[in-house]
Amino acid sequence: MGIFVTDQQMIFHLQTKQTSYIMAVKNNKYLAHVYWGKRIQSPDISHVLLMRGTCFDVMEPTEKEGEETCSLDYLRQEYPTGGDGDYRIPALEVTYADGSRSCPLHYKGYRLIEGKTAPKGLPAVYAGESEAQTLEIRLEDEDRGLQVYLLYSVIEERDTIIRSVRLENHGKEDVRIQKIMSACVDFEQSDMDMICLPGAWGRERHIERAALRHGEFRIGSSRGASSHQMNPFLAVMEPCADEVHGNVYGMNLVYSGNFTAGIEVDQLSQARFYMGMGDDSFSWLLEPGEEFAAPEVVMVHSAQGLGGLSRIYHRLYRKNLIRGRYRDEVRPVLVNNWEATYFNFNEEKIVSLAKEAAGLGIDLLVLDDGWFGKRNDDTTSLGDWYANTEKLPNGIQGLAAKVEEEGVKFGLWVEPEMVSVDSELYRKHPDWCLHVDGRRRSECRNQLTLDLSRNDVCDWLIETIHSILDSAPISYIKWDMNRHMSNAGSALLPAKRQKEVPHRYMLGLYRVLEEITAAHPDVLFESCSGGGGRFDPGMLYYMPQTWTSDDTDPVERLFIQYGTSLVYPVSAMGAHVSAAPNHQSGRVTSLKMRGDVAMSGTFGYELDLNAFTEEEKEEVREQIREYKKIRPLVTGGDMYRLASPFEGNRAAWMFVSENKMEFYFAYFRIQAKVNPSITRVRLQGLLPEAVYQWEETGDCYRGDELMEIGLVMDVSGDYQSITAHFICKKE
Ligand code: GLA
Repeated sequence: MGIFVTDQQMIFHLQTKQTSYIMAVKNNKYLAHVYWGKRIQSPDISHVLLMRGTCFDVMEPTEKEGEETCSLDYLRQEYPTGGDGDYRIPALEVTYADGSRSCPLHYKGYRLIEGKTAPKGLPAVYAGESEAQTLEIRLEDEDRGLQVYLLYSVIEERDTIIRSVRLENHGKEDVRIQKIMSACVDFEQSDMDMICLPGAWGRERHIERAALRHGEFRIGSSRGASSHQMNPFLAVMEPCADEVHGNVYGMNLVYSGNFTAGIEVDQLSQARFYMGMGDDSFSWLLEPGEEFAAPEVVMVHSAQGLGGLSRIYHRLYRKNLIRGRYRDEVRPVLVNNWEATYFNFNEEKIVSLAKEAAGLGIDLLVLDDGWFGKRNDDTTSLGDWYANTEKLPNGIQGLAAKVEEEGVKFGLWVEPEMVSVDSELYRKHPDWCLHVDGRRRSECRNQLTLDLSRNDVCDWLIETIHSILDSAPISYIKWDMNRHMSNAGSALLPAKRQKEVPHRYMLGLYRVLEEITAAHPDVLFESCSGGGGRFDPGMLYYMPQTWTSDDTDPVERLFIQYGTSLVYPVSAMGAHVSAAPNHQSGRVTSLKMRGDVAMSGTFGYELDLNAFTEEEKEEVREQIREYKKIRPLVTGGDMYRLASPFEGNRAAWMFVSENKMEFYFAYFRIQAKVNPSITRVRLQGLLPEAVYQWEETGDCYRGDELMEIGLVMDVSGDYQSITAHFICKKE
């Protein structure tokens, strides 16, 4: 049981294994936030909530004599709106038909639901009926008939609370939604830091931490994708919190499109923390009788610092978000031809890669961009999804058969959401792309975005992808998306609904992905958006792995993979060994360093296998053998980050099996230093009494020694790595 309701005092206490989240209804009408943090035993701590006002505040009217009153600007509201005396950022902002924005929401009732609910048409965390419980609280603006349902699903064992919101218009007039947060939490104190994951193409999810200040700190995306530039994750934490200690509170949006999130510190140094939809490009018209569901926010509190927070997210996403066969099955080691050939390949070249791959122990060959229409560079053919027979005379079917004959599975790249101006599809359907009538259609990488807010375009896409998948033995799909939205208008929507296009696009895309993945359960899907431009829980719901970044330089990847691991499990991170000098950075690193970095991910190669020397081939065979041995640990174990590349000239992490009988450790030194001080790395998450043996050296250590004293990292030269596999000999 994770939800306790004390009917008399109107207190809602949500409990996970280690967390409590408490709300109370005050004066029979205000739903207030009481507490979020370490688990509290007492069912009623509503007295901690203070109802007051300060000088110059708009006070709420009382209904009974002697009733406590307050200012909404002071009250820690569970779901605040604007226009009625709370001057902070609202969680919900609407405009009514008469132009007014005042929207007082009063508590009306609640309902308990066994299991986990999901917002209609959107990706969602899932759980069995006995695993989760959901609280639905109804608020209402009585005057206008606007009902607001706040949903809280508690997965006790996973230590998570998942929030979402649904609006229903029971009034007689239209309501325009300007902003709808899925979660909003008012903290009494703002003596905290915030942490987020900004980036750019090739530099995704770098960690940024800063102290909160008065005023607003806001993150978001209005690019039509969750984006490289800012991940839909935001956390606040005690200033003293680190990887191991301290309270951390995270929010992560299960959505792949535009979003907004932020923290506002008010006049009384309280902090309002929110996440949802409502960037400048958003607005949604809710007609009488209609409803609107906002995406889920996964809320995690950890009292064990950032490391604890990450492990909770990882376990949840591995088991209650990622679906299908590859949730539990090991992922294949693959080779992708992109950095090996770019557009310059033919059947012979690809088959020769497959032959080499089989000899090295690689399981799957992926044919990337350039196999369709007339595509020999990025100027043409997106939308014309039939094989380029000049390059592939036997089509995809013939090629896939030949690849399989060599002993490896076949995978294919597609970029289905796009259309090239130079394509048969565009010539036939010029109105199928996002555009604004009479305006220039701005291209990016010579392409336009298909209008997935349209049902007919989505239907065409579903059929097209089905027929590719049915035409040949395809075991894997890399689903790419290589531009952000501009001129985001649709030919089919009326003027008053044009600002709905980015969200309608996402609903269309999710329908397409649902139908395709459901119809092809044995295909492994990997999402990609110019690398990690859509690395979010929304995409992970459909596709169990994401190409982490187009930047394959192992040193750069230390930062990207470390930052990504703050929220997302390593099993979701595509990581490949590429050529030296690296194609993005020009840096030269050893095959060992490149392999060791990529092994902390879903492993593969992205280079010309035929260019390897015999010696290198032997090293690659050994890498693959090693990876297959440690793969269950890396992709299913608990990750402990030990040293951050953002804080020094090195990085280290480890993966521990659930029973703590085995672990894999990886250390990376970036630049050489002459006459350096001794570097020791202290491990985490082990049994103190247990004796662990380093498989490669045979050396034995007790768990407490490894955790309290640590291992000496003795390396010389730039870009060095040490990896170690330990097995418990004695408990
Ligand atoms: C994107 C992807 C790359 C590759 C190219 C092909 O940039 O991130 O991995 O597939 O497209 O055009």
